[in-house]
Amino acid sequence: MSGFLQRLTRRKPISELLSEEGHPNALKRELGAGDLIMLAIGAVIGAGIFSSIGTAAAGEILPDGTVVRYGAGPALVVSFVLLGLVCGLAALCYAELASMIPQAGSAYAYSYATLGELIAWIIGWDLILEYAVGNVAVAVAWSGYFSSFLSGFGITLPDFLTHGYRAVIKSSDPEVRALLETAPRIGNMPILLNVPAFAIVLAITWLLMLGVRESARANNIMVVVKLLVLALFVGVGVMHIDTANYVPFAPNGWRGIHQGAAIVFFAYIGFDAISTAAEETKNPQRNMPIGILGGLAICTVIYVVVGAVATGLVPYADLKGADPLAQALQMAGLGTAGWIVSFGAVISLTAVLLVFQYGQPRIFYAMGRDGLLPKWSTRVSKKARVPYITTLVTGLVVATGALFADENEIYDLTNIGTLSAFAIVCIGVLVLRIKDPDRPRPFRVPFVWPVTLGGAGACIYIMMGLPRHAWERFGIWMGIGLLLYFVYGYWHSTLRYGGGAGEPDAPKS
Ligand code: ALA
Repeated sequence: MSGFLQRLTRRKPISELLSEEGHPNALKRELGAGDLIMLAIGAVIGAGIFSSIGTAAAGEILPDGTVVRYGAGPALVVSFVLLGLVCGLAALCYAELASMIPQAGSAYAYSYATLGELIAWIIGWDLILEYAVGNVAVAVAWSGYFSSFLSGFGITLPDFLTHGYRAVIKSSDPEVRALLETAPRIGNMPILLNVPAFAIVLAITWLLMLGVRESARANNIMVVVKLLVLALFVGVGVMHIDTANYVPFAPNGWRGIHQGAAIVFFAYIGFDAISTAAEETKNPQRNMPIGILGGLAICTVIYVVVGAVATGLVPYADLKGADPLAQALQMAGLGTAGWIVSFGAVISLTAVLLVFQYGQPRIFYAMGRDGLLPKWSTRVSKKARVPYITTLVTGLVVATGALFADENEIYDLTNIGTLSAFAIVCIGVLVLRIKDPDRPRPFRVPFVWPVTLGGAGACIYIMMGLPRHAWERFGIWMGIGLLLYFVYGYWHSTLRYGGGAGEPDAPKS
């Protein structure tokens, strides 16, 4: 039995994960605090602010009147501030681990070195919820804004080809629900497919297979587009605010603020992505916290301002739907501005899709290299040097999910998975400080006990604001993950044979 437990907690030696300074393969330290802030804004601002903000403000009520979650109403701005603080704690922890263990695989790699193999597997399994499953929701939001954008040219796609089946049956909008009757059918089944969401994921997968990845320059352009359209939204919207919309400010009290925060947490996901740049950061001790906390602070301010304008433009209950910012402008009679915002959202969400479709196959790759996934997941194409099988599998699964999905259900699942990964990372920092206090840490979390325990506790508190079905599905997801680990990873882990990272499969063309 003790041998069994030992295997579950076998840790990958950090020395094996480190790339040494001065080593020919070491990355060049080029990024300053400003670059990190741009990187943060690029990875973070997307479907959360352009789309999940609507449900966070309005809440969610099923057609039969069941309340799935209470909305924050105009107090959404309080939810954003709360999340900024929670993410700040988790981000500090990420920065410490990332600077000690700069490696592809993000939280998965950190936990393998700190908390052992089983927890690492659980985190890797959680990260699928963050990256692949999260992208299903981003694709659905993309489709919503793409349809708004096309309608500016007078092009209207048939509703049954822009709404997935799950989204229709979960909608409380009578017009959307009417599709159950009016959509073409195959036998008894209405055809309800989100084709644009499916197509954009396939297009991005194709780009990634060619070896195209977002460069710092492309990222900067997309960041500028995001900031410009949000500035336009605020600049135009602020002049049309009706202060009557702010009353009542918190229609569902703290419960609404908490539950609103739990869904709009999606808007903050992506900070872990910048922590992976620790090895390429100049003076990480100084620049990492400035980049992470500065990026968070800027995003929080942007979110608060956008949230205040959106809930001032229209009654908060009208913000439902996949494209609430464009809808709010249109309802306020600002059609052209709404159309420009739709265009900006399409660009912004494309960038987020690209980053996460790029990241997921590499996490699979890291897990495959450690023997926790089958060897084929480490296959790299000869020419483009891309982990092509995992890229393709990720693309097909995400595209198929996007064809049918309801984005709110997906936000919930992604948020619960990501928050649990954040909580484990916070604990990992504390464990490593106790177990390995002398290891060099280019960046150290200040006030380590309150920050790590407070961070983990705060993440769990936000998770508690998610509806019951999210917990049930998360439980099922974890059950499947554990089963897979004990059927496969436990037996095939390269550490089982006393080895380090396994050799990836030879490149294939
Ligand atoms: N934070 C990212 C978004 O909102 C995932 O799209």
